[in-house]
Amino acid sequence: MKKIAVVTGASGGIGQAFVRELVRESLDEIWVVGRNSQRLLALKSEYGENIIPIPMDLTSNEDLHSFHDLLKKEMPSVLWLVNNAGMARMAPSMDFSFSETEQTIDLNCKVPAVLIHFCIPFMEKGAKILNISSASAFQPVPHLNLYAATKAFLRNYSRALNAELGSCGITVTAVCPGWVDTDLLTREMNGKKIRFPGIVSPEKVARKALKDAKAGRDMSVCSLYVKCQHLNVKLLPQRLTMKLWLYGIRKYLV
Ligand SMILES: NC(=O)c1ccc[n+]([C@@H]2O[C@H](COP(=O)([O-])OP(=O)(O)OC[C@H]3O[C@@H](n4cnc5c(N)ncnc54)[C@H](OP(=O)(O)O)[C@@H]3O)[C@@H](O)[C@H]2O)c1
Repeated sequence: MKKIAVVTGASGGIGQAFVRELVRESLDEIWVVGRNSQRLLALKSEYGENIIPIPMDLTSNEDLHSFHDLLKKEMPSVLWLVNNAGMARMAPSMDFSFSETEQTIDLNCKVPAVLIHFCIPFMEKGAKILNISSASAFQPVPHLNLYAATKAFLRNYSRALNAELGSCGITVTAVCPGWVDTDLLTREMNGKKIRFPGIVSPEKVARKALKDAKAGRDMSVCSLYVKCQHLNVKLLPQRLTMKLWLYGIRKYLV
């Protein structure tokens, strides 16, 4: 039975960093998922034949079912599932259309839960699931509301699932980075260039996440900046942490 890793959003910044780390593991194949097939093929050219591009739109139920069929046909042992694909936009909640709202909730919440459901029957003791949540999951975040709420879902889902799967020896880790230097970030708002305090590289996030998953941790926080943020939101009332956030972004709102 071939040993594989599945990485969604492998064509993006953090996904590519995960692939770069996983090629060092003892795996027969790494299945890289995303819509941009050129970028997935570029990973194959860079890392070799054991990279298997799977171009698909994760928000399409048809594509999700095809992925399930592929698993049933290939019958691999899934050692790593990295639920990394995600979408975000910093804007007032009322700016979101029906389809953007639906796609964000689908991609950030439904898809990881469905892929976990598909993959668990192909996992053995020692397998690891990494769900890329966010530090925005720690508190309600006005103007990043929908995104932060989806990431809170993913964080809670991951930690509870880790407790449920402990007896099978499968670890589930919620990865909660702060700002990461990728194309996901909105670089400008109302004509003002946004600054991102505590920003880190995708490589730092991926390296720490793999280390934490191997140590059996249910959460991975990769920088001192985010650890302090996490402590703050535990100690302060949410009404106050929201006010502090709004104060920090006030110059971008007008
Ligand atoms: N950057 C940050 O500051 C930050 C902080 C905390 C958490 N995160 C989380 O980290 C994860 C990766 O984000 P990133 O920063 O690496 O962003 P990114 O560079 O924009 O990558 C996003 C990835 O998601 C994939 N994707 C988007 N829609 C998809 C769809 N419908 N079907 C399949 N794949 C889809 C994209 O691939 P295609 O375009 O090829 O489909 C891309 O590979 C996300 O879950 C994000 O929420 C990011």
